[in-house]
Amino acid sequence: MAKADASKLDWNNLGFAYMDLPYRFLATWKDGEWSDGELSEDNTLHISEASTILHYGQGAFEGLKAYRTPDNKIQLFRPDQNAKRFHNSCERLLMPSFPEDKFIDAVKQVVKANADFVPPYGTGGTLYLRPLMIGIGDQIGVHPAPEYLFTVFAQPVGAYFKGGMTPVNFTTSQYDRAAHKGTGEAKVGGNYAASLLPNKKAAAKGFADCVYLDPVEHKKIEEAGAANFFGITKDDVFVTPKSPSILPSVTKYSLLWLAEHRLGLGTEQGDVYIDQLDRFKEAGACGTAAVIAPIGGIEHEGNFHVFYSETEVGPVTQKLYNELTGIQFGTVEAPENWVQQV
Ligand code: PLP
Ligand code: COI
Repeated sequence: MAKADASKLDWNNLGFAYMDLPYRFLATWKDGEWSDGELSEDNTLHISEASTILHYGQGAFEGLKAYRTPDNKIQLFRPDQNAKRFHNSCERLLMPSFPEDKFIDAVKQVVKANADFVPPYGTGGTLYLRPLMIGIGDQIGVHPAPEYLFTVFAQPVGAYFKGGMTPVNFTTSQYDRAAHKGTGEAKVGGNYAASLLPNKKAAAKGFADCVYLDPVEHKKIEEAGAANFFGITKDDVFVTPKSPSILPSVTKYSLLWLAEHRLGLGTEQGDVYIDQLDRFKEAGACGTAAVIAPIGGIEHEGNFHVFYSETEVGPVTQKLYNELTGIQFGTVEAPENWVQQV
């Protein structure tokens, strides 16, 4: 694959596709220690055929973004939160921790080295960072790997869901992506492998993705594809599901805070029954890649429930979007420690 050329990119129509950028960060863990790590121009990895990542899925990843501000600076949104979640994911799979300060430093190095690929302010594009840790080395038993590799690579991205801030429709899935005492809380590859078939089935029916229900009874909403679900009740409460098998979304926690402190809404993390969608006047999917995707409607067992509209964005969802993205792009004052300059 040819190296990406920043001068040839159409910043307004980036989508969410892989590009081979000039630099990524790589560090290795061996004999109980991380190497210092360095930037590399090679986008391929050369690893043992016995690596635990290949057979047993011992790997965790993160997703965060760098934003270009109107004064042409570059900033990160809550990288410390990604570093903490990464630590938790690695711990769940018995992988070594990558220290929070080194995680943030590696991300910043990659952003600086690929600064030409941070989309201009006003295009809506961002530089998506993908930190990743995998088990490597020569060992075939089902045990933690003897060695690990940590990398961070980057991609300029636009909208994850086609159309960006326009409503998308979901259908409920018969499948589960994770179990309550499984790995749903961790950002690990197995959850995403489990989501490929349900996603394909949802897409074949014309939906953007599927809504996962609780794996015990299939009665409560858990996740909206690769994003968390939120609903706005008719009396202005921002509600998100609480469950041990959903990913603790940085965007979701940020929206909970903004809903309460900037928009004056009530907030609740609790049960969201699929047969009680009438309580919501608006709904959305939120995540780093998705940002906020307004949910037009959800299909469940042959019924299609429309929230605000299939074509228009609800006013509360729009306000949340403006507040969140304003902070991310540096045009709205950020709560303390939410943004870091690169
Ligand atoms: N849920 C899943 C399954 C995800 O993959 C993501 C994306 O990271 C999210 C939720 C949203 O999390 P965040 O807001 O931290 O990106
Ligand atoms: C993210 O929002 O960072 C995600 O991980 C979603 C998806 C691209 C896996």
